[in-house]
This record gives sequence, C-alpha cells and structure tokens, in this order.
Amino acid sequence: MKTPIIDFIESYNKSGIVRLHMPGHKGVPILGAESLDITEIKGADYLYEAEGIIAQSEANMSSLYGSALTCYSTEGSSLSIKGMLAAAREQLGELHIAAARNCHRAFLNGCILLDLDPVWIYPEKPSENLCATSVTAEDVRRVFTEHPELNAVYLTSPDYLGNMADIKGIASACREREALLLVDNAHGAYLRFAGEGLHPLELGADLCCDSAHKTLPALTGTSLLHVSRSAPEGLAGRVKAAMSLFASTSPSYVLLSSLDRLTSELAGELPRRIIECCRRVAEVKSELAAMGFELSGSEPMKLTLAAPGYTGDELAGQLRSRGIEPEYSDEGCVVLMPSPYNSGEDFERLVSALRELPKREGGRLPRPELPSAQKAMTLREAYFAPFERIPVDKAAGRVCARSAMSCTPSVPVIVGGEVFDEKLINFLKRYSFFEADVVK
Ligand SMILES: Cc1ncc(COP(=O)(O)O)c(C=O)c1O
Repeated sequence: MKTPIIDFIESYNKSGIVRLHMPGHKGVPILGAESLDITEIKGADYLYEAEGIIAQSEANMSSLYGSALTCYSTEGSSLSIKGMLAAAREQLGELHIAAARNCHRAFLNGCILLDLDPVWIYPEKPSENLCATSVTAEDVRRVFTEHPELNAVYLTSPDYLGNMADIKGIASACREREALLLVDNAHGAYLRFAGEGLHPLELGADLCCDSAHKTLPALTGTSLLHVSRSAPEGLAGRVKAAMSLFASTSPSYVLLSSLDRLTSELAGELPRRIIECCRRVAEVKSELAAMGFELSGSEPMKLTLAAPGYTGDELAGQLRSRGIEPEYSDEGCVVLMPSPYNSGEDFERLVSALRELPKREGGRLPRPELPSAQKAMTLREAYFAPFERIPVDKAAGRVCARSAMSCTPSVPVIVGGEVFDEKLINFLKRYSFFEADVVK
C-alpha cells in the first residue's frame, strides 16, 4: 500500500527548499523526529479539509477497516470521542444520549463542551469493577422505554479490562429505535484484523473511534474516527468539521506519518502477526488458568488476571519485581496488554514469573457494586458553577461539581451534577478519594 504522507515528506526533505515556515527546528535533528515534523505547507494537505495526501492515506485506512470514512486524529481518541459527539449532535439536531457509566473522561468533557445531559445505563447485572461494562441489549431497550427522548447510545467496548459488549445486539436495539450507536473502541483498533465480526464497525456501530497507539504499532496520540457504511446519510460529511471544533490547527505530521506507515503494515504482514499474537495469548490464558489464576475478559489480545489471596496491585508489584511492567492494576485484577511486538521470550518471562509466584490462601476479594446517584444538575451546569473543595466525609447531600475519576483509566466514580450520599462516599474512599469538589 502506498504511503502518500511519508513519500511527500521524504521528497520535501530531499528538495533542498529553504524553510521559511514553521516549525522552528527546520528539520534539523535535535530530538531525532524533526525531519518528519513539517506543517501544512503547499502540497501537505489540511487534516480537517483533506483533499490531497492526507485524504489519500485516510482512504487507504478506510478501505482496510471497511468504513465509509476514516478520519485521522493526532490528539488521540480523546479528540475522536468529542468529534463523534459533535457530529452526532449536528446530525440529529438535538442529541439525547444514553451511555454506559464506564466511559472515559473524554466523553464527560465532550458532554460539558456540547452541553449534553447523558442518561446513564445501569445494567440489570451490575458490573464487578468500575471500569467494566456489562450493559446488554435488554438494558438498552429498558432505558429506551424509560426515556422516550433518547436518540443515541454511547458504549465503551472493549473496556479497560478486556470485556466486550454485545455490540451486535445493542446495535439492533438501536436500529429498532432509529438511534445512533457510538462506540469508544479505543482499546480495539486491532480487532478488525483479529478475526471476523469483532470490530464495532462490523457489528453495527454507526460511529466508532480506535486509538491506533494502544494496540497497533503507531505513535502515542494517533487515533481513527470511523463512520460506518450503514450510518445515516449525511453523517460522514459532518465528521471533519466536528473534529476541528476541538482540535489543534497544527496537527502533527510525525503522528500522521505514523498512521500512514500503519496502513502499509496493515496491508502487509501485520494482520497475520496479530492473529498469531492472539493465539499465543490464548495459550498463555490456558496455562495460567491451569496454574490457578483467574482470567477475565474476552478480548483476544489482552490478559486480565487475578491470583487467589493477592490484590491486583500486589500481583502487579510481584510482576514488577520480576522485571515486568503491567498496563494497569487495581484491587481486583492486573491488566496486561501484549502485542505482536512482544517477543516469544516476553511471554515466557511472564509465564515463568507467574509460575514462581508464592501461593497464598484465600479467595477473591469482594468487589463492591458502583452505587447509582441522584442527579441535581447537568454536567455543564455543575462544571461552570462556583465550587469548593471539602473532605469527602462531609459531602453527603452536596452536589458534585467536578467528576471524580479513577486515575489511570479515567473512569468516573461520581460525575458532575450528581448528589453525594453515604454509599457513594464509602465507594469514593475505597478508590482513595478523600476530598470532593462540590457546588457552593
Ligand atoms: C476507554 C478509553 N477511551 C478513550 C481513551 C482516550 O484515548 P487516547 O489516549 O487515545 O486519547 C482511553 C485512554 O486510555 C481509554 O482507555
């Protein structure tokens, strides 16, 4: 597959042109990446009005994903999520959105900026972890019945822990209602290449965003916003402007080059290597299960595990002391994110480190259910209201001004506009929140 962005930059670098334009480093290697770091000069196209090399590269990516349109982001899925919301809002006139509560903070930020007031979908079968999703098609249908105004659904799948929602079932619930389905697939860019029917676009999502950098060999900050071929007419045409509402006017050509290179990798050997990596992960999961570890999550390239008698954080500490750095841990589990770029030796080191783990008595720690909260104002009203910081113990009855987010996955425990109660306060303390920002 051709790499129009990289080819353009290479020939520009060879041309000997005097650079009297940004950036200030003039391509001189200081950090090392400067030669790729140009700006929107003649011939380099414009990311949010792409007609040239960026449009060609995006079209290549779109054909790999089977989308109607794929738009590049050099500001992560944090930007693509806001872009999806703005495009959906423009398409629908008014956006009334139901969302699974394990959303990333970018969704909350998008709601604040666009003045959206999401209805939270609390699943019938509660999730065992703040970050986990267990929303079903039936949960979505129930919320649709309770809220006749809803015209869109937002899901995070896969979640941080490797659980995958029934997107196919939820998409058909959305179709019955003629509601749009938006999916935060930040963790699942590779799913398109890991087997049939795994990527949200193949399962009926109208809009979906993938962080290329999380699971594919692309630089941090790269993300893709896809519009489905079956999305309502007009939606694809709104995406670029929607992204540019929130985006920098100086997109990174280093990151665009990374996405451009990714297309040629994905058109080459990478899909075979992804399948091979998933096969190795499946083998490791079986080996660990046989050793007594508890595995969770159905995502094929992620390992989420717990060990009897250990908290997830303790288990992560054990791995670190044996030279292995996990992606994430909490009280309940450790998350590991291998990729085709991990060597066979990396997998062997992981398995032998876990084999050496001293055995402990004890079962699984009880995991408290995330309590639902009463809403007193919208996210935007709460964010812009005067607020004060108080000890969380004194917050009962007060309205949350700024969402309290668990640090790494940035998933909210309480969101702006909700009222603190004792159950929530106890839950917050469990996540080490001892202060709260409340509306004055
Ligand atoms: C579920 C989820 N969505 C969105 C994001 C934001 O993605 P990015 O880092 O590409 O901006 C993250 C980041 O960790 C995430 O975990």
